[in-house]
Amino acid sequence: MKVCAQITGWGKCLPQRILTNDDLAKRVDTSDEWIRTRTGIAARRIADARESTATLAIRAARNALNVAGLSPQKLDLIIVATATPEYIFPPTACLVQDALGASRAGAFDLSAGCSGFVYALSLAAHCIESGACHNVLVIGAETLSRIVNWEDRSTCVLFGDGAGAVVLQAAEGDGGVLSSVLGADGSGADLLIIPAGGSRRPPSPATVANGEHYIHMDGREVYRFATRVMARASREAVQAAGLTMEQVALLIPHQANIRIIDSAAHELSLPKDRVYVNLQRYGNTSAASIPIALCEAIEEGRLQPGDHVVLVGFGAGLTWGAAVVRWGRPTPIRPVPLWRRTASWLGYRLASVRSLGMRLLRKLDALLGAPWRNGKR
Ligand code: ACO
Repeated sequence: MKVCAQITGWGKCLPQRILTNDDLAKRVDTSDEWIRTRTGIAARRIADARESTATLAIRAARNALNVAGLSPQKLDLIIVATATPEYIFPPTACLVQDALGASRAGAFDLSAGCSGFVYALSLAAHCIESGACHNVLVIGAETLSRIVNWEDRSTCVLFGDGAGAVVLQAAEGDGGVLSSVLGADGSGADLLIIPAGGSRRPPSPATVANGEHYIHMDGREVYRFATRVMARASREAVQAAGLTMEQVALLIPHQANIRIIDSAAHELSLPKDRVYVNLQRYGNTSAASIPIALCEAIEEGRLQPGDHVVLVGFGAGLTWGAAVVRWGRPTPIRPVPLWRRTASWLGYRLASVRSLGMRLLRKLDALLGAPWRNGKR
């Protein structure tokens, strides 16, 4: 029997703080009218001082595991797609692994700009189909508010913070992730870039003074690129799945700009009711935008078992990617029972005690040396 990668759990986490277009108009020379008509965005969420890419990712992951009814200890792999990792290293995925107590899981970050979630989903599906993994957690998480120049009106109006996650599990049959198409064109690397802070231009007072640690973007060129690749990648993924566009129930595009989404939908001859849009609420949350939109589409009952959904993204790199999923779970699903939520809560408390214990043991080890560890002292 063929093994497929089914999405069995999903979750999101959005910061509470809402920043509206009118709020932004008090900071930079812009207006609600300009932002709405040029982008479709009305508001975005902004992480507070206690929130970070990892904390948002952890909360989205816990929600996804709850829906799947899966213990974190059964995870084989955790992939965090992000352009705003907690640190250059260690990977944010390892912080998620520790907080979840996913003691059997490998963990790494994936950097492919806003296409990161589709890249990660594709990789996770292949790991499951090959038999290498049974249970994989895929997260898209971002705190773009930390790398946006809040004085640059051409970029600061576009981005927001948030995280979305899915649990992929091996299942028998021919559903789940049916196909994926990934692409890249590094000749456009400079069109969307944080010029400094990496090894090419390490951070220095000069790079900070020049604002080179912020997002720099050629909006018009990125726009042109996006309108070229969104429809093409979607069509290729649909063909690779052996389907036609008529068989697609819902397109969930990267939520960057309503005009880009409308242009892709037009080219694919998809009516508005078969295209999911929530960017008016959250702006562009980069690698988190597709999983957040997927969660909300499920919550709104927009996906039924057997439906085909196309996830398509584009972003820095330049990169693009599309995946076709045959939806397998009945929606809306029953609420997670209280006992399971309590058991999970206890499990996560235990994971933080375990993490603390391991840190203390490591300190003891360094202090007392190997003989203590070997029971000789
Ligand atoms: N408010 C008011 N005016 C503005 C603003 C603003 N926030 N931003 C720019 N303008 C001005 C410009 O200065 C320009 O003025 P000028 O004509 O006097 O020079 C004018 O508006 C038009 O600027 P354009 O850049 O031509 O505006 P456009 O219609 O192209 O919209 C936008 C700009 C929204 C950025 C669009 O190009 C876009 O969405 N591009 C794609 C960006 C994107 O999706 N990036 C994310 C990629 S994914 C990732 O990996 C992070």
